[in-house]
Amino acid sequence: MHLFHIPTLFALFLLVQAKTAFLESALLPYVFEPLPLGSIKPQGWLRDQMQLMSDGLAGHQHEFYRFVKDSSWAGGDQEYSTLNEAWPYWFNGIVPLAYALDDTRLKQQVRSAVDYLFDSQYEDGWLGPESTPQTRMLWPRTLVMMGLTQFLEAEPAEIPRLLPKVYKFIELVHSMLADDYLGYLGRPDSEFDYHWGITRSQDMIISIQWLYDNYPGEHGQVLLEIMQFYNEKAWDWAYFYSSEVFPKEDLDIKLPPDEDLFWYYHGVNSAMGLKAGAVVRRFTHNETLVHISKRGIDWTFKYHGSPSGSIIGDEPWSGLSPSRGSELCTTVEAIYSLGYLYQAFGDWQYSDRSELAAFNALPAAVSPDWWSHQYMTQINQPYSRDLIDTPFNNVNSLGQTFGLEPDYPCCTVNHHQGFPKFLSSTYVKVGSNGIAHAMLSPSQLTTMLEDDNQVVIDCQTIYPFGEKLTYTVNADKEFTFFIKIPQWAVQSASHVQINGKLPQRVKPDLSSGLHSISIPAGATVVTLQLSATTRIVPRQRDTVSIYRGALLYAIDIPHTIRSASPRAYRSLEPIPPKWLHPHAKDYTLENTTSWNIAIDPSTLKFFSAESEDVALKNPIFASGSPPTKMTVMGCEIEWGLHKGSPADPPLPEERKCLGDFFEVVMIPYGAAKLHMAELPTVSYS
Ligand SMILES: *[C@@H]1O[C@H](CO)[C@@H](O)[C@H](O)[C@H]1NC(C)=O
Ligand SMILES: *[C@@H]1O[C@H](CO)[C@@H](O)[C@H](O)[C@H]1NC(C)=O
Repeated sequence: MHLFHIPTLFALFLLVQAKTAFLESALLPYVFEPLPLGSIKPQGWLRDQMQLMSDGLAGHQHEFYRFVKDSSWAGGDQEYSTLNEAWPYWFNGIVPLAYALDDTRLKQQVRSAVDYLFDSQYEDGWLGPESTPQTRMLWPRTLVMMGLTQFLEAEPAEIPRLLPKVYKFIELVHSMLADDYLGYLGRPDSEFDYHWGITRSQDMIISIQWLYDNYPGEHGQVLLEIMQFYNEKAWDWAYFYSSEVFPKEDLDIKLPPDEDLFWYYHGVNSAMGLKAGAVVRRFTHNETLVHISKRGIDWTFKYHGSPSGSIIGDEPWSGLSPSRGSELCTTVEAIYSLGYLYQAFGDWQYSDRSELAAFNALPAAVSPDWWSHQYMTQINQPYSRDLIDTPFNNVNSLGQTFGLEPDYPCCTVNHHQGFPKFLSSTYVKVGSNGIAHAMLSPSQLTTMLEDDNQVVIDCQTIYPFGEKLTYTVNADKEFTFFIKIPQWAVQSASHVQINGKLPQRVKPDLSSGLHSISIPAGATVVTLQLSATTRIVPRQRDTVSIYRGALLYAIDIPHTIRSASPRAYRSLEPIPPKWLHPHAKDYTLENTTSWNIAIDPSTLKFFSAESEDVALKNPIFASGSPPTKMTVMGCEIEWGLHKGSPADPPLPEERKCLGDFFEVVMIPYGAAKLHMAELPTVSYS
């Protein structure tokens, strides 16, 4: 009994401290507060996907993958770069996966990682490798801190044991930053590449703010000073998002890009930096950053966005060509940033953008069984093989193959934060007595609102493969429930029905997109029926991308699949057997038909799921699995290759049908591993 009570009392004490600090917080609040890790559980297809991740590469890296299992963070010496960031990336993704699924095996991996981390903590508080002050780097600890704050959120009973150790590290970080930014900026005696840390500083500040929001104790001043130290020397995203600096032209024309701007142009950095202004505003209270951030995000997606919801860059931004591709790390970072941005600013479009990347760009880059992934995903990608020549700027010729580490291994160790972080942002708190389903998908929330009001919201749906969402809500007391209505929904034909009563038209708030519903105590069933239309969205060179609801549709290219034992990413040497797993393979996918097709969008026909009440196939993101499809009339046109990939789509005057029209089938992009999704148009009649 004693053992149980002491930590509980201590946790309570800390909680009271936290509440007191909140009243006089130096940090601006989020528009919508995030909910703690573990309170949201995936359901339906999303649960299937995350279970596949646990059964796949994400859940087994800890056992076999050299850069995780034998990382310098785990007592080994295997690192893919001098940044020692692989194990930290893995940790940041595995924590939310383990607690979303409540997966005993993964939670055990997390626990042993946390124990090793603190058992090997230095006397002065330092965590992980790099023993001497000159070699110590703060950047990889950004990811460790993110994993740790999530862990503490999911395991509050660990607070009494771990928080003092975390603060020992935080106090050391403070003293390093006070010592001319040791570990953060480069110095003559410390030779690591510090650019990553100063362009990604907002991600460390998020963890520092989490401590400040939840368990500041007597460390409030130190935490605020760390935020300031970080920000003083950070690269300024507000500068990049100014009209004189931000590149709006097609960068293909002026590669290699301006060297000083490279760190902003870098695809992954640009996805992470989307949230920088929102993070910095919390402690500087600089309201200009709201406007500047919105502008920067709009521009980033308008001038550099892919139809699948990611950002095009290989690795630097490279223009809008559908053969240039998006990096998987960029996609998962964009999903996370957009979820954060919806919480920080409550702006409707960030929620829709996060869904777009999560339902399209992310699954397209991963094999159906979640054992292999691409580094780069091209929008027009009719085969996935050694390209020999490549259209990319800084990606090897295997970058768009599915494999264990088809190029730089960062995506191997970072890919699995995608769905877990998305899930964490699907529900948010609205004021003190409201909950919003902010990003739609099947999931269940269990949480406590004011006055001990326990609320359980269970959402069953095949969304985005269907348009009906059924919520079973159980609450001890009344509260307000909000549902985000996607911007693409036809509002006049979208309805909410409560306990089978007369359906009401949706009335989303114009800034947040939230439709509000009063929920009484007890059990309530809420049904949301959305209405979608087929959308034909123009892209560069007079091409189109086709959407329905939150899904992008693509021509699914039939193919053969060959597998081989994995090769190391740069040397292309076979990886030694002791670091292999029987399911981890490298793949070559070859088209068995032609792909050079133009379509007539006026002939598009959409086929919905036969029933929205039948479970989806698992894995859902595989050719033949989705319950929806489109057909369209198309013909083959002359369309050549450029550097091993489909050339930029022919211009209208160059499009001549080579033969008769035929019926072309299009399926959700994430299920079509080989696909054409930015298509030239021709006239059928
Ligand atoms: C707010 O941030 C913007 C962009 O960084 C900057 O130009 C401006 O000077 C800041 N305002 C204040 C009061 O610090
Ligand atoms: C697959 O694509 C290549 C590259 O355009 C093309 O040469 C080949 O004919 C296609 N394969 C088939 C079976 O049509």
